[in-house]
Amino acid sequence: MKKHDLPSVLGSISPQEFMRDYWQKKPLLIRQAIPGMQALISRKALFELASEEDVESRLVSGDGDSQPWQMRRGPFKPRALPPLSRTHWTLLVQGVDLHLDAFAQLRNRFRFIPDARLDDVMVSYASDGGGVGPHFDSYDVFLLQANGQRRWRISAQKNLQLRDDVPLKILSHFKPAKTMLLEAGDMLYLPPHYAHEGVAVGECMTYSIGFKAETNHTMASVLLARLADFENLQTMKTYSDPFQSATVHPAQIPSQLQKFAIDSLQQKLGKEKDIFCALGEWLSEPKPEVWFESQARPDSIKGVRLDKKSKMLYDKDCVFLNGESWHCKGDDALVLRKFADQRLLSSADLAVAAPEVLQLIKDWVQAGWAHSLPQNC
Ligand code: SIN
Ligand code: CO
Repeated sequence: MKKHDLPSVLGSISPQEFMRDYWQKKPLLIRQAIPGMQALISRKALFELASEEDVESRLVSGDGDSQPWQMRRGPFKPRALPPLSRTHWTLLVQGVDLHLDAFAQLRNRFRFIPDARLDDVMVSYASDGGGVGPHFDSYDVFLLQANGQRRWRISAQKNLQLRDDVPLKILSHFKPAKTMLLEAGDMLYLPPHYAHEGVAVGECMTYSIGFKAETNHTMASVLLARLADFENLQTMKTYSDPFQSATVHPAQIPSQLQKFAIDSLQQKLGKEKDIFCALGEWLSEPKPEVWFESQARPDSIKGVRLDKKSKMLYDKDCVFLNGESWHCKGDDALVLRKFADQRLLSSADLAVAAPEVLQLIKDWVQAGWAHSLPQNC
């Protein structure tokens, strides 16, 4: 284990076994995934976070039985939340890892899965009986019990029809096959589209480490739009038809114009490097509500770490940071890839970095994307 590594969150299962046997395949309950789990945020601090404009939050109440399901979107002033004595409500706060170091560190314990798949860490607080009802999520999720107890009921059912009379995603026909009571430190992994319902037994908090995946439709539309923006003026062509003859079918689209459309697309799709560049820039783009605070440009840097909001990825030609890309090769690529994988560079790493790389890292520190470390590490 390296100096900065924390113990696995997978209990006795290795990351390799988890990815082979469970990831995207079947649920896994890990008792004491984090032994002696201590809450990383207090109820009060969570409520304060939910009152902020740039934090996405939701309040769900009801039980789908005597009390109908209700959902409101934040931000919520603390007094806008139901009293703690009231049962059957839950507050869900997204992207907590972008705001608090402890949650960024928790997120980092799941980096046996590629960063490009990670979405965020959501924290939910529930009063007794609180939950969001029986539903399924479209993506993989690890549900870590932070404090208190939650009863999960899960089902591999194929019928995922949703009710259309409620303001949130609730399954019409939930047939739970398995029930488990999670205590602080226990964690349940669920693959996409697995039916589940978590109900708080007394007040409790749950952390959801959530993943994301894009559909082929979104990929195509986003990448094509980005590829179109890469166009340079030398290769830009406007359709021309100097040999168009007089037509007696003025409404018919000329076949030559159709061919121009196909050629335009094929030309874009033939440029694999541009596609990978567009992909990396897109995947590393922070969410719209994320902003960075610029800092003084350092004269020298002894060590550097990425900001918890920074997204850094790489492929064989480029490194990507927060939606921008840099071509790099050789030793420059090695040091920048190390920065992306470790989210940290030591003074020894920086001592062998080329001056251009150091300049780039200073630019990133100035932009607030990275932070200079105070001492050798
Ligand atoms: C919750 O934390 O209350 C809901 C998480 C989930 O079911 O995905
Ligand atoms: Co869920």
